[in-house]
Amino acid sequence: MPLSATSDRDRDEQGPQPSLPKATFSFRCIGCGSISAAAAQDFRCSQCNNLLEITDPSWKSPSLNAATLKSSWRERRSSNAALDLSGVWRFRELLPVPKSEQYVVTLREGNTPFYELPLSSRITGVSRLYAKHQGMNPTGSFKDTGMTVASTFARQAGYCWVACASTGNTSASMAAYAARGGMRSLVLVPEGKISWSKLSQALDYGALTCQLRTDFDGCLRLLQELVRRAPVYQLNSINPFRLEGQKTLAIELLEQLDWQPPDHIIVPGGNLGNSSAIGKALLEMRDIGLILRLPKLSVVQAEGANALVRTLREAEGKRLISVQAETRATAIRIGNPASWEKAVKVIQATGGACEQVSEVEIAQAKAEIGAEGIGCEPASAVTLAGLKKLVRQGFVKPDETVVLVLTGNLLKDPDFTMEFHRGDLFQDTPVHGTPREREGNLLNPLRHPPIVLDATLNAVIQTLERAEKSDPPHPNAESNT
Ligand code: F0G
Repeated sequence: MPLSATSDRDRDEQGPQPSLPKATFSFRCIGCGSISAAAAQDFRCSQCNNLLEITDPSWKSPSLNAATLKSSWRERRSSNAALDLSGVWRFRELLPVPKSEQYVVTLREGNTPFYELPLSSRITGVSRLYAKHQGMNPTGSFKDTGMTVASTFARQAGYCWVACASTGNTSASMAAYAARGGMRSLVLVPEGKISWSKLSQALDYGALTCQLRTDFDGCLRLLQELVRRAPVYQLNSINPFRLEGQKTLAIELLEQLDWQPPDHIIVPGGNLGNSSAIGKALLEMRDIGLILRLPKLSVVQAEGANALVRTLREAEGKRLISVQAETRATAIRIGNPASWEKAVKVIQATGGACEQVSEVEIAQAKAEIGAEGIGCEPASAVTLAGLKKLVRQGFVKPDETVVLVLTGNLLKDPDFTMEFHRGDLFQDTPVHGTPREREGNLLNPLRHPPIVLDATLNAVIQTLERAEKSDPPHPNAESNT
């Protein structure tokens, strides 16, 4: 089995392509601040073992003129060049770039829709409420925006194998990008704790998939040991190239808002890579002058996986308080988030908040987003559930502009959705803190279970008439229809 890195000299000999800026980035430790030109395979600082981030002097240089950047990014939207068709590489001036365009692995990621949320707006009282739907990426989650950059650097370094620990979406994305880039992929997932839909993606894209008898945190620990022993390139969000790609969510969002910053951006928190990436992008955009004001970046977690909430409340963000994670929002079932320090920094730098929401609140919010006609997976719905709390606390005001980051597609976890509508979701698991009756009152009006009928016209017409009498009209219906 050829595990060793292959030479990429042949590809290098063709020299840099004109369409990429010159690579000038380096790695900076977020703990001791030391700068290095290269990173070890575990992407940790050789001095203090803390995480690395990517920095580039050109991102602060006056040569990056905000107006010029905005107009060239807009111009690229009408180009058919491979790099410009990607909603990540379109913003390449703010990314680490490979030596040559031929290393770039892309599935035309990014370019995700920005939606108004009229129903959720009525529910929360926030009049300008929007969703940035990262579930509309090629493999159905935000992971693709980071994976295009990190897999590109794996390819440039000549790796045969890439690997990740995952709650499902990272593995689906990694497997796809590895396949596109001609690399093999190794997936470590907690057995029985990820959705079949995500697992099946990894299988179809050809990953070597191991279901380990542990949780996500156990998988990640093992991967960190593995990369020190074998020439395997790790594609978890500890890999700072991933976060660079995920920055483009915020850049594209601001472009969609004509560079008028919203007051709040709300994002789910699991391993805390995404919130760190969005925060890094906001700070860099402010430094360059792309935006003049910082939105507040808030992170929402499930009550059963609330390491960051506790870290901020009980330890003022100074040391991590790990938890034994449990939630049906399996994407964020993480108790020992790797990027907690990065997330604390950006929440504090932007003046954001950190909240937790219950299982019932997640299920309710997911159905409410579904009723908007766009849908999302459970982990993404924590954003709406969290917003309701932040409004009640007065942290978000009704006249402010709020963007929810929907991280994953509705189709990612069909079991959750089916169990919700059939009323089975919490049958086997006690719903912590919510009496059954209250759960029913909150959730029953949102349930639309499938109905089994004889295949007769009469049966269908009677069902239609019953629904017409008992169900209220759709809240978005025009008053005259
Ligand atoms: N939402 C979804 C749909 C996710 O898949 C994840 C993380 C998150 C939110 C949290 O993002 O970790 O950057 O704070 N999923 C990872 C995975 C851990 O393996 O797919 P985060």
